[in-house]
Amino acid sequence: MSEAGAVPVLACNALAKTYVSGPLTVPVLSGVDLAVRGGERIAIVGKSGSGKSTLLHLLGGLDVPSSGSVKLHGRDLSTMDEAERGRARAMNRWASSTSSTTCCPSSPRSRTWPCRC
Ligand SMILES: Nc1ncnc2c1ncn2[C@@H]1O[C@H](COP(=O)(O)OP(=O)(O)O)[C@@H](O)[C@H]1O
Ligand SMILES: [Mg+2]
Repeated sequence: MSEAGAVPVLACNALAKTYVSGPLTVPVLSGVDLAVRGGERIAIVGKSGSGKSTLLHLLGGLDVPSSGSVKLHGRDLSTMDEAERGRARAMNRWASSTSSTTCCPSSPRSRTWPCRC
């Protein structure tokens, strides 16, 4: 199978997340589709509060989506139990790279990580 047709390393489909806290519902993500193939690097960019961390937590299997799916090598994370997700994280190390940093308008070349400005 060609690289273009290969199963993505990490993918999400129609991903949605709404936080529910008592009577309060906070819809954060809706209809997020993404496919990351071997060797690709991606950046998730958005203003504060737009849902970057929420997306990274979902992609890293650290939180569960309200709907939609996250697949690692074609395997839906929701079919794994907590221990298996932990092992998958350790083996694939994709969660360690799904960390957020903030682009600093005042210091765009900053290499400080995580950036707190
Ligand atoms: N655990 C939570 N419960 C309720 N709302 C949350 C929670 N985590 C994040 N939010 C809200 O979700 C939105 C997106 O947050 P977040 O994913 O942290 O954005 P970003 O990383 O882009 O700044 C914000 O409005 C934030 O207040
Ligand atoms: Mg964040």
